[in-house]
Amino acid sequence: MLARIAEILDLKSQNELLRRDLAHKFQNIVGKSKAMLDIFDMIQTVASARSTVLLTGASGTGKELVARAIHYTSGRTDNPFVKLNCAALPENLVEAELFGYEKGAFTDAKKTNRGRFELADGGTLLLDEISEMPLNLQSKLLRVIQEREFERVGSSTTISVDVRIVATTNRNLKEYIADGRFREDLYYRLNVIPIYLPPLKDRKEDIPVLVEHFIQKYNGENGKEIVGVNPQTLRLFMKYDWPGNIRELENLIERAVVTAKNDRLTEDDFPVELAVGKLDDGGPGLKVPMKLEEGSKYLILKTLEYCNWNKTRAAEALGITTRTIRNKLAEYQQTKAGSA
Ligand SMILES: Nc1ncnc2c1ncn2[C@@H]1O[C@H](COP(=O)(O)OP(=O)(O)OP(=O)(O)O)[C@@H](O)[C@H]1O
Ligand SMILES: [Mg+2]
Repeated sequence: MLARIAEILDLKSQNELLRRDLAHKFQNIVGKSKAMLDIFDMIQTVASARSTVLLTGASGTGKELVARAIHYTSGRTDNPFVKLNCAALPENLVEAELFGYEKGAFTDAKKTNRGRFELADGGTLLLDEISEMPLNLQSKLLRVIQEREFERVGSSTTISVDVRIVATTNRNLKEYIADGRFREDLYYRLNVIPIYLPPLKDRKEDIPVLVEHFIQKYNGENGKEIVGVNPQTLRLFMKYDWPGNIRELENLIERAVVTAKNDRLTEDDFPVELAVGKLDDGGPGLKVPMKLEEGSKYLILKTLEYCNWNKTRAAEALGITTRTIRNKLAEYQQTKAGSA
């Protein structure tokens, strides 16, 4: 009997530990940098409130992931998480999508439709790329945020909702305000709880855990058993600037996991872009004497890096065509694979 009780207590505490672990990981958000730990805290703290959250950060830094984590940590999980990308729709459709419309409100309104605000009632509405919200709708949005009330297009009946709004942007809204493209009053209404996601290059301590996380994820999806990356590759990762942030890292790992021949990923499983780090590492840089081919490779890769891998700008700077750059990159990739 005592043994049974001990066993149950043990299971209970194990369960508690697992639960806390899960709560901490927030649905697959990983990170151990100070910035990410602060963000985990922030999610936990603000989740249960209804206050509007404004998530800022460059493309691919994890804004949507954090928005979902806030929803799934809140008491709103029995109700939907609804998303609207303000940039993806023409101006006249955004209003109908947000607020819904009555049958006959416009030519294509064959039947009454509920908008995202109604669909998200009791839950969370993610307004993606809020900077692109048309000005005339910004005032309507302001009203919903203040009063939680609106009307469907073509209707005069006021609808009340209980919706938690999370907005994201990778633009500088202050500049948009200065240019008259974004309402200042709306900005202050949205910016109640600001959360900033720094670019990956400013939190490189996260790279090893992210790599591990994505390898596990894509092992699972593809029935692979990749055990990790070799130390040289990790060093290249730590040197690279990741202009596409975590999305870029995730895509590279996915491709490498799927195509790798061996169970440990090496430099050859990744694009030549990453090897620029190595040029600085042990490489000679430009020196005399040196093979012309080697020198031009260095110059092309360094110029590309300087131009943030914008091939058009790099071509301009080098005085060659973008086509030549593409051919060269393909060639470098080839020799790399060939030497493996
Ligand atoms: N900390 C993290 N841990 C695990 N995965 C992450 C993390 N941050 C981002 N990701 C993954 O990276 C990808 C990009 O993240 P997400 O879509 O949230 O970026 P975003 O900031 O919304 O980008 P965009 O501005 O381009 O919409 C997603 O697949 C997401 O799951
Ligand atoms: Mg996004």
